[in-house]
Amino acid sequence: MSLVTFAPSGKELEVAEGTTLLAAILLAEPTFPHKCEGNAQCGSCHIYVLEGRKGVSKIAREENEKLDSIVGVSSKSRLACQAKVLGTENVKVEILSFV
Ligand code: FES
Repeated sequence: MSLVTFAPSGKELEVAEGTTLLAAILLAEPTFPHKCEGNAQCGSCHIYVLEGRKGVSKIAREENEKLDSIVGVSSKSRLACQAKVLGTENVKVEILSFV
C-alpha cells in the first residue's frame, strides 16, 4: 500500500500496489477527465507527480509518445491512466487545472 496525496485539495488515499493513479484520482476527484478511458490516447489525464516518482511504474513508449504531444509537459509529467502505484513509497500528485 502507498499513501497518495492529491494537490491542491490535500486529499489522501491508501492505494494498493498495481492501482493506476487514474483509478486513485477518480476515487478522490470523480470529475477528473479521462476521455479515452485509460488508453494513453487523449492526454486528458495529464498530471504532475510531485513526490514519490520512484513509487510509480516507469514511462512506457506509448505514454512517452503521447506526453510529447501535450502542452505544459515537464519532467514531472505522467498520464495518470498509465502510471501504476508500486507500493514502495508514498506519492504526491498535482491535478492540473489546465487539462
Ligand atoms: S485517459 Fe486518455 S490518456 Fe489517460
